[in-house]
Amino acid sequence: MNLRPLRKLISGPVEIYTVPALDDNYCYLIRRAGTKTCAVVDPSTAAPIRKALAELGLTLDLILNTHHHHDHIGGNEDLLSENPKLPVFCSSYDKPRIPQATRGFGDGESFEYQNLAGQVLSIPGHTLGQIAFHFPEARALFVGDTLFSMGCGRLFEGSAQTMWESFAKIKSLPPETRIFFGHEYTDKNGLFALTVEPNNLRIRERMDQTKKDLATYSSARAPSLFEELEVNPFLRAPDALAFAHRRSLRDKF
Ligand SMILES: [Fe+2]
Repeated sequence: MNLRPLRKLISGPVEIYTVPALDDNYCYLIRRAGTKTCAVVDPSTAAPIRKALAELGLTLDLILNTHHHHDHIGGNEDLLSENPKLPVFCSSYDKPRIPQATRGFGDGESFEYQNLAGQVLSIPGHTLGQIAFHFPEARALFVGDTLFSMGCGRLFEGSAQTMWESFAKIKSLPPETRIFFGHEYTDKNGLFALTVEPNNLRIRERMDQTKKDLATYSSARAPSLFEELEVNPFLRAPDALAFAHRRSLRDKF
């Protein structure tokens, strides 16, 4: 198996690492600096997570699942086999369909992790149980498959209106909030974004920067909400109807 390197994306009192997995998934590790344990967001498979933990000298003490799709929970079972007491958090909606889940959260519910406040935002659209984990102190938002760099998830379970309302929740967060996506799709999303806004130079900048980042680190940086609002044709749609139209065009792109 080709295991690509992890990348430290956020330093300071809270550290966040990207762990690329499968073909284009991004898993993340988060911890308060100095602690010997960390949480993992959306472990696709166990092997790259194990390798990253070994490199960093850390052990896991929490699994966070943004939604029930297999490429986001596929590593749960394997990681639990070594550490059967690991708590696994997801949405209340997904709890019955994530076999390893220990606790389900409703919209707006919060928890504490390593003295960090974690808030759960319900952001349905891609799936009905899709949530984001928001850590305001770290200015970090893990969105699963709701948003990607210049893109958004397919509407598997929710309607365009549902997704549009989820975008509104995300847009209301502080603009400096960094967004951690569930997949790397920048290249194709950028090509589509250019069909919507051919003169938006920021789209080309994002494509170029990501190409360099992927060559150097095997993963992209997590843009701020402010940066994403400059390039994402779905967040930039004027209304739900325009969003629905763009999403259907992207489905065929
Ligand atoms: Fe998904």
